[in-house]
Amino acid sequence: MNEAEHRHRMETAGKALAAARAVAVLTGAGISAESGVPTFRGPDGLWRNFRPENLAHPDAFARDPALVWEWYRWRRRRMAPLSPNAGHLALARMEAAVPSLTVVTQNVDGFHARAGSRRLLELHGNIWRDRCCENPDHVFQREPADLEGEVEQASVPRCACGGLLRPDVVWFGEALDPATVQAAVGAVQRAEILLVVGTSSVVYPAAALPAIAHAAGSLVVEINPEETPLSAAADVVLRGPAGVLLPELEKVIGREFRP
Ligand code: OAD
Repeated sequence: MNEAEHRHRMETAGKALAAARAVAVLTGAGISAESGVPTFRGPDGLWRNFRPENLAHPDAFARDPALVWEWYRWRRRRMAPLSPNAGHLALARMEAAVPSLTVVTQNVDGFHARAGSRRLLELHGNIWRDRCCENPDHVFQREPADLEGEVEQASVPRCACGGLLRPDVVWFGEALDPATVQAAVGAVQRAEILLVVGTSSVVYPAAALPAIAHAAGSLVVEINPEETPLSAAADVVLRGPAGVLLPELEKVIGREFRP
């Protein structure tokens, strides 16, 4: 794509955002890539080196909970020193600049909340929470500082009620929280524009949200350095990293707002 075409697409997306009363944003692992969090399906993606059914599946936890916990602790330790990047921060600021902006994320890293996004739906849970297998309302927030004492802890943590604790994330073969899915569908149906940022658009039900937005008449804008199964159906495709393109879009919105 040449520079003129890129500018034209940026203007189209930026003007639509500036005029919109309701905006939805669907994000995936790509938005956190520039923070240093590995994606799942890229050249260095997690699923290149690990088999999801051995680690992110209820059967894996039933078979070997210590192994599953080892993998999640490893991911927590990798994420602990990392921070939200320019893309997360731009989205959080955009929330203040448009009347209603909802972020729907597949990510479990918690970076959108840390960046300041308030209308946030975490479809796949949050890696920094533990949940009891016996009493699912027993949920515990964990912090990077908690990792320090963990070497001495039992390899499979237990709830005060005696049940095994698990990471509060959605595993393959598990259903997403129905209320969160319903809220996400409502948000994309209300939105005049849906930004789809940094997702390979292959994991459902998240991957169905752009078609739901389209059916409701939204403009669908994809932000991704690579082509995805969504690209051909998107109204506007912006090729490049989210940490560059989202702050650029924010500038176009700011300019449109000025009298
Ligand atoms: P993937 O790893 O499948 O896709 C990441 C996408 O981000 C790819 O399309 C990349 O081209 C794009 N990307 C890479 N760097 C980027 C950047 N700097 N800016 C913007 N985009 C960039 O990750 P997801 O689509 O999020 O589910 O994967 C969906 C789900 O599959 C995850 O939530 C996880 C996984 O299995 C569960 O664990 C339940």
